[in-house]
Amino acid sequence: MSGKYLVTGGAGYVGSVVAQHLLEAGHEVTVLDNLSTGFREGVPAGATFVEGDIRDAAKWLDSSYDAVLHFAAFSQVGESVVKPEKYWENNVGGSMALLAAMREAGVRKLVFSSTAATYGEPDEVPIVETTRTSPTNPYGASKLSVDFMITSEAAAHGLGAVSLRYFNVAGAYGSCGERHEPESHLIPLVLQVAQGKREAISVFGDDYPTPDGTCVRDYIHVADLADAHLLALKAATPGEHLICNLGNGEGFSVRQVIETVRQVTGHPIPEVVAPRRGGDPATLVASATRAKERLGWNPTRADLAGIVADAWAFAQNVSN
Ligand SMILES: NC(=O)c1ccc[n+]([C@@H]2O[C@H](COP(=O)([O-])OP(=O)(O)OC[C@H]3O[C@@H](n4cnc5c(N)ncnc54)[C@H](O)[C@@H]3O)[C@@H](O)[C@H]2O)c1
Repeated sequence: MSGKYLVTGGAGYVGSVVAQHLLEAGHEVTVLDNLSTGFREGVPAGATFVEGDIRDAAKWLDSSYDAVLHFAAFSQVGESVVKPEKYWENNVGGSMALLAAMREAGVRKLVFSSTAATYGEPDEVPIVETTRTSPTNPYGASKLSVDFMITSEAAAHGLGAVSLRYFNVAGAYGSCGERHEPESHLIPLVLQVAQGKREAISVFGDDYPTPDGTCVRDYIHVADLADAHLLALKAATPGEHLICNLGNGEGFSVRQVIETVRQVTGHPIPEVVAPRRGGDPATLVASATRAKERLGWNPTRADLAGIVADAWAFAQNVSN
């Protein structure tokens, strides 16, 4: 059955890919985005676009919507350390206003973009949803705060909600891909070296307790992530806040990613070893068992070379 969905942050990377998947599944989509980090041309054709802020969501939300998919947020870890107020204001204040608008309009289903950053330095790997949350920066803390807010909204007011805790999202889907400014994610940064936009890639620390000394992360294809959002809409149950990790359960080191980019692009990719950054855990790998059991999620694009190849195709198109 087709539905009508409000996608906040749908001019950004993940939101645009999910909006595109919703449209392809025959749903009606309104994108609400203030274009603070997103791009008007990123909004998929076929979606209604509203240029506005989630703090004013009450202006646009009404009972005709079946659910909200909430991507709108600031997500630069480093910036959140020096400007924490920006993150509390937008991520927490904005989400609070959005929840109030949903309550007012009687929209009782939510899928929220949470993050692996809520766990901080994990006590155990792979990370499960019961792993202790202990964010090491204001970005992760702001996202965890929204998760708490959603839990209480579900318990008190019957919201049916699913928080998806993404690990490292990568790859592209057709004309929708990753464009953060400034870019802070490894794969697009390495691709910028392949494109000649940057001379070398910095490797922050090569003395971690990992097989090659560089940090290990769990990369998930953005299209697999989008599939999980459509399944989450079906799984959302009134009065329940379900939290699911989304990752492939397999880690790749920074050096393995760089080597894969060399193979995919044919570019030598010079690297420079730099000191460790504070707050970078050695290994972050998800257990997605709960997402598989509760959502019926079955990621099919886990191959790193395939993820990099899709991101490379997108990066070349964007710069042309
Ligand atoms: N990309 C990742 O690897 C990753 C990992 C974990 C979690 N997340 C989460 O996923 C979500 C999407 O991330 P992304 O990488 O697509 O980021 P993005 O910056 O590309 O997209 C965010 C979008 O939200 C919009 N936005 C921000 N504040 C807004 C507001 N107040 N009102 C309206 N629109 C607003 C921006 O203009 C942008 O289009 C974020 O919530 C982020 O925290 C992303």
